Amino acid sequence: MSNFLPNHTLDMIDQATMLHPVSSIEDLHAKGPTLYETAQGVTLRDSNGRDHVDMGAGLWCVNVGYGHDALVEAGTTALKTLSYQHHFGNAAAKDTVRLSERLVQLFHDQAGATHLNRVFYGTSGSDANDTAYKLVRYYNNLRGKTEKKKIISRIGAYHGLTAAATSLTGIDAYHKMFDLPLPDVLHTSCPHFYRYGKAGETEAEFTDRMVADLESLIQREGPETVGAFIVEPVMGTGGVFLPPLGYFEKVQKLLDQHDILLIADEVISGFGRLGHWFATGAFGLKPDIVSLAKGLTSAYFPMSASMISDRIYDVLSAKSAETGVFMHGFTYSGHPVGSAIALANIDVIEKEGLVAKAAANGPYLLKALQDVTSGCPFVGDVRGMGLMIGVEYVADKRTKAECPAGSAPHKIVSKYAFEEGVLPRALPFLPVNSFSPPLNITRAEIDEGVSRFGRALKCAEPELSKALQA
Ligand SMILES: Cc1ncc(COP(=O)(O)O)c(C=O)c1O
Repeated sequence: MSNFLPNHTLDMIDQATMLHPVSSIEDLHAKGPTLYETAQGVTLRDSNGRDHVDMGAGLWCVNVGYGHDALVEAGTTALKTLSYQHHFGNAAAKDTVRLSERLVQLFHDQAGATHLNRVFYGTSGSDANDTAYKLVRYYNNLRGKTEKKKIISRIGAYHGLTAAATSLTGIDAYHKMFDLPLPDVLHTSCPHFYRYGKAGETEAEFTDRMVADLESLIQREGPETVGAFIVEPVMGTGGVFLPPLGYFEKVQKLLDQHDILLIADEVISGFGRLGHWFATGAFGLKPDIVSLAKGLTSAYFPMSASMISDRIYDVLSAKSAETGVFMHGFTYSGHPVGSAIALANIDVIEKEGLVAKAAANGPYLLKALQDVTSGCPFVGDVRGMGLMIGVEYVADKRTKAECPAGSAPHKIVSKYAFEEGVLPRALPFLPVNSFSPPLNITRAEIDEGVSRFGRALKCAEPELSKALQA
């Protein structure tokens, strides 16, 4: 035990030594950290011994729940067998090769994506999207289309926080401190019908307007300069936005017309969250690159995977003799311990039928949340797909009036929810609480979590009234 800071509590040491990711330094110094000590299934225990139903599955990632023996055993065995192996210079670890075969097979069988046949590994959703960003450049360089590099993302998108991924993210709060986005990333309209649909506009008309916005951006920039369009099939951190009616069919057509690649960021949606193995299958997408992370190992190991289409790989392969080594990769690319855990994780998802469970329990959670919020004048919309649900706040439910700037009703409710022992997430773009529990949550745990949330909402109402009617 170190005695660098003698007589300090853990709270004090945290405050004295840590810079937390996406956290307020001022808040840390005022209130200290929230320490968690143990977790099992869907429940986290904090350092005061209080239990919380984790309705976020961490950061949308603990798909098989906490403390699952099968993953712990797989990781332990892998650590004892081959604790590390890189993949540079065509070195390989057995479990990583097996995982690649498994992922390709899953995409063929469960998503109908027989054109995705190569896997590149990293350690986070952000670096998977950095890989996509670099692949778009390399692919078009190899084709002699050296101008075709711009990537279009969407306002409200979240693709991570490395420099390229931050740029792809479409939320200003992440950009402004760091002089981002990079100039070759552009953002088109956010296709969230509930908030951005115009009065009298049907959902189909809204879709057409969104697609027209994308088309005019492509035309303005020049299709010969646009390399890719990146999408979260269901937008998560922005506020759980489902694609409006017919959106992806129309977008895909437009991209094909202009030789623009589609990058599907399935960092949240992959591995069952939507009640389908992959959103690629659920929405009939034909992506050229799919970014995977989170649910790949249920966060038992930091790992990402990028599924790469034949159309990209064939160009890279054909030019390999000429260009030499593919100069991209990380120390931990294809880490054998992560691969063993990912294989065990996929086994658990299959054996426990977690994709079907998400499909069955998602609507149950959605209805429970709709019921428990129906009396609250500040909850405007409750929506979702599978176990990915958003509760959106408004100043007035009848008029859909926006919440005043800085009112942050979702953060107010989250504060009360913590006190009640349930953890929804408070998102950074629109005032939305998200619910994305582990896929093995039971109906009894859903009932308990939702009733705690209902109590929190009731307790929060006076403070919400003050904040929203100011
Ligand atoms: C859709 C999406 N893409 C990428 C990321 C970034 O992943 P990571 O935090 O592992 O870098 C996230 C994280 O929430 C995400 O939701």
